[in-house]
Amino acid sequence: MLDLLIHNATLPDGRQNMSIAVREGTILELTPGLMAEAHEVLDAQGLLVSPPFVDAHFHMDATLSYGLPRVNQSGTLLEGIALWGELKPLLTQEALIERALNYCDWAVAQGLLAIRTHVDVCDPRLLAVEALLEVKRRVAPYLHLELVAFPQDGVLRGPLGPEQHMNNLKRALAMGVDVVGGIPHFERTYEQGTLSVKLLCELAAEQGKRVDMHCDESDDPLSRHVETLAFETQRLGLHGRVTGSHLTSMHSMDNYYVSKLLPLMMDAQLHVIANPLINITLQGRHDTYPKRRGMTRVPELLAAGINVAFGHDCVMDPWYSLGSGDMLEVAHMGLHVAQMTSQAAMRQSFDAVTRNPARILGLEKHGLAPGCHADFVLLQARDPIEALRLRATRLKVFRRGQLLAETPAATSQLHVKGRPGQTARMV
Ligand code: FE2
Repeated sequence: MLDLLIHNATLPDGRQNMSIAVREGTILELTPGLMAEAHEVLDAQGLLVSPPFVDAHFHMDATLSYGLPRVNQSGTLLEGIALWGELKPLLTQEALIERALNYCDWAVAQGLLAIRTHVDVCDPRLLAVEALLEVKRRVAPYLHLELVAFPQDGVLRGPLGPEQHMNNLKRALAMGVDVVGGIPHFERTYEQGTLSVKLLCELAAEQGKRVDMHCDESDDPLSRHVETLAFETQRLGLHGRVTGSHLTSMHSMDNYYVSKLLPLMMDAQLHVIANPLINITLQGRHDTYPKRRGMTRVPELLAAGINVAFGHDCVMDPWYSLGSGDMLEVAHMGLHVAQMTSQAAMRQSFDAVTRNPARILGLEKHGLAPGCHADFVLLQARDPIEALRLRATRLKVFRRGQLLAETPAATSQLHVKGRPGQTARMV
């Protein structure tokens, strides 16, 4: 006897009329038109069943703090960092936990079931680390949360000095933080940035951790720390375990240099995370016109065989006043900014918020195949492109075969003479 049997599902790869058989939280079988006894049967009515969304780049310690203690007037990255510095001494664990749990509710409601969040480790109390480790424990039954030790002020530049900042980072790892972070472009000099990449990658190699650095988040075409990150990845044998987040300087780099950089990144099996909502908002701020978009070269990276995800980065925090935990909104912006409007590229954009970030996190049994966790989302759309176009309603969200969230279909009742009584914006 099955626990759950879903009929008539369309999968992201285009297979239709699929049945998904679930027992004990695992996908047992995935085949067309399966007939079997089940405790619960669901007719997907030809709609899309997708793996859950994954956000590989987020800042949960700052989320939902919009307006505290004031709003970012200029909207710039640097005012955001300064504002975060003003907010940090005012943070309490209780409020931080409450905001993070609230955000996780938003996430679950939208089928976002795995999040990698950076957590600032420059505060010697490590208050945010403690709070987010508590959040991780509390959400574990329904959401995979992993933490990156992020030295926001720069591990070498920060006011406490390199020794204390490195010590904070090591303490955070010892407390249970999963990944080593960094911010080389924010260090005082290019050499210091290079040294920070080297030291942090060495720490990760020693401790068997993955690396995810804010890297080259600038419009400066000569910000080339990604080169060092790829080189150190190879030197230390960290292939496939290192991620360059943002890489916005690649937008402005010389094309010849990029032609040399891409194979280096590929050889290191470096992962890349672009954060379209934030990159398009924060980059190009020193430009008049033409004004750069600032997002890294997503189609070119994908064409070179490099794994690229789209991350949300910020929701209602010192850097960004908008956002709602909707990874379809993130992918929708990403495909527009990168002009990824071919059918194949739009499908790649959908992968960039599902499959690709799951690879970055090293999630096991993520996907729609026998043996995978029974984690999936029923969308009010018939394929990934329609899901992106509509930022489709997540009708039902399942984790380990259990229903976690449901949302009524977005159908408008029309009171227009001579026209149908309703529309769901689908042809
Ligand atoms: Fe970030």
